[in-house]
Amino acid sequence: MVRCMSCMVSKHENWVAVCPAAGLTAKAFVCARVETVDILLMRDGDRIFACERFCPHEQADLSQGRISDGRLFCPRHLASFGLLDGNMSAGWPSRDLRVYPARIEGDTIWVDTAAMGRAG
Ligand code: FES
Repeated sequence: MVRCMSCMVSKHENWVAVCPAAGLTAKAFVCARVETVDILLMRDGDRIFACERFCPHEQADLSQGRISDGRLFCPRHLASFGLLDGNMSAGWPSRDLRVYPARIEGDTIWVDTAAMGRAG
């Protein structure tokens, strides 16, 4: 299941409130736009992850992918990315996936925007 949400406006330093925590159920994706960046939120077990929404290979929508063994699999060519560091599976000519720190505070999921907009 994929949910798309507009970013909430609360902000604390670099952290932005993105959506209610209840909106992210186990292994579901939530799409959001934070400032000018399209991101994807996901849960794998007890952990919350955030990353750029589109695959660095050919821009497939990763919200249509799947999570398995701590990796996010692209729906188009099945490259995979580590949820912790965004490292791309071997053999692809693309950069790693950009990942962003995320946390649950109260009933809200917050994402650190400090790394957004950086080249890499
Ligand atoms: S578009 Fe994602 S692996 Fe090719």
